[in-house]
Amino acid sequence: MEQKINLNLIDKEQVPTSEPERQYYFMEIAKQYVSRLAEQKGEPLTFHVTTFGCQMNARDSEKLIGILEYIGYVEGASEDADFSIYNTCTVRENANNKVYGRLGGLGNSKKKNPFMMIALCGCMMQEPSVVEKLQKSYRFVNLIFGTHNIYKFAELIVTTIENSFCFPEAKKSIMTIDIWKETDQIVEDLPAERKYFFKSGINIMFGCDNFCSYCIVPYVRGRERSREPKEIVREIEHLVKDGVVEVMLLGQNVNSYGKTLETPMTFAQLLTEIEKIEGLERIRFMTSHPKDLSDELIAVMKASKKICHHLHLPLQSGSDRMLKVMNRHYDKAHYLRLVEKLREAVPDLALTTDIIVGFPGETEEDFLDTLDVVRKVGYDSAFTFLYSKRTGTPAAAMEEQVPEDIVKRRFDLLLSEVQRIGAQKAKKLEGRILPVLIEQRNEQDAQLVTGRLDNNSVVHLPGDDSMIGKIQNVRLKECKGFYYIGEAVD
Ligand code: 5AD
Ligand code: SF4
Repeated sequence: MEQKINLNLIDKEQVPTSEPERQYYFMEIAKQYVSRLAEQKGEPLTFHVTTFGCQMNARDSEKLIGILEYIGYVEGASEDADFSIYNTCTVRENANNKVYGRLGGLGNSKKKNPFMMIALCGCMMQEPSVVEKLQKSYRFVNLIFGTHNIYKFAELIVTTIENSFCFPEAKKSIMTIDIWKETDQIVEDLPAERKYFFKSGINIMFGCDNFCSYCIVPYVRGRERSREPKEIVREIEHLVKDGVVEVMLLGQNVNSYGKTLETPMTFAQLLTEIEKIEGLERIRFMTSHPKDLSDELIAVMKASKKICHHLHLPLQSGSDRMLKVMNRHYDKAHYLRLVEKLREAVPDLALTTDIIVGFPGETEEDFLDTLDVVRKVGYDSAFTFLYSKRTGTPAAAMEEQVPEDIVKRRFDLLLSEVQRIGAQKAKKLEGRILPVLIEQRNEQDAQLVTGRLDNNSVVHLPGDDSMIGKIQNVRLKECKGFYYIGEAVD
């Protein structure tokens, strides 16, 4: 059975040309389409957003969900919803494979549900070869869009519904594809979902200009551009009025915030402004690039009462030679000196990192340099990655790929070292009483709630829903490796 709705609600004269008004116009149209389809189906239409990858994507998904809810979709529990969206990641090759692997299943669900639409968005869609493959082999996908135009989601939904349901003559639904290579546009004031009422991610900038030689992000997220500080502060003030106590400031390299503004400002200056917001209790940020982490920022972190004592500072490699070919613009000594300065300023600072193993040309000596930094810094935890060749990046053209068995051995050694050191660090906090932001009921045990320390570690403790969203002093009774069992104290 093919579903049809006979609507063509758009009056071209009426469509606003400026944003966000234009999107609100399309949201009203989409609302009417969704309600007609729901009437036909006899129940509300459901959506499901599956997010792959990083915190940027997670925040983008909240923006998609904000719009979906605004136009009348309700969240469904599984991927087989009436509108299923994959927000994809492409930072490593296996992220792409995961998407293709799961997409087939979605195609089967669509055959059984005439109201179903499937959309793909995010970083993977910025790769032309991906879109070609989808056009060829995954014709059942209704909508494909990229990272630069997610603010246009409402408008894209309207087109997609029209392409899929409105034209009786259409034999097959038409794939709506809208990918932009680049944008400098930042659209404010669109709806966004909040998964938690007490904490929220905030984009402070978009894109990346660093071109680390292994990384595809600058090609799929575009050039670096910062949001105006007054917009960021206004957004946080609104969130705080609404009950938010913790914010996570998001950017590929937050330390270079502000360079593209008409009146340039530093990240440290932005933090100083955010610190002044009354009612806000915790400030987090990621990711920090070691080359741009300034003394000014360290001083602001030292003086702050709100900036959490946790810094994610990707190392990537401890070898000067590798760092050079990775185009990272710092060396081992600079990194270690930074850590020293940070620890002088904030003695209990938790440090986490990202490390790539098996970059082209990595020798045993290079790898030992990485291990050396890992041991010297003593990370609280680290994300370790096998190097993944990304077409189009400079590293993909580098010869001397390291044999798989050697990479695997190095990776296993690094991981066990990272875990051993992390467990030792975690153990040190046993017995301490520390503030924990309670985030949710424990998923396994309903008698427990789960929260996070200032240093981002997870703590489980007996409690109930009334504690969620509050900062509670907790005695860390037992360290279980990477999390703690605690008890609330007054
Ligand atoms: N291969 C492996 N890891 C990568 N990362 C980025 N690109 C690649 C790649 N091609 C890692 C980096 C980065 C993290 C988000 O992903 O460590 O900090
Ligand atoms: Fe990729 Fe480097 Fe930019 Fe991070 S700083 S997103 S690793 S290019």
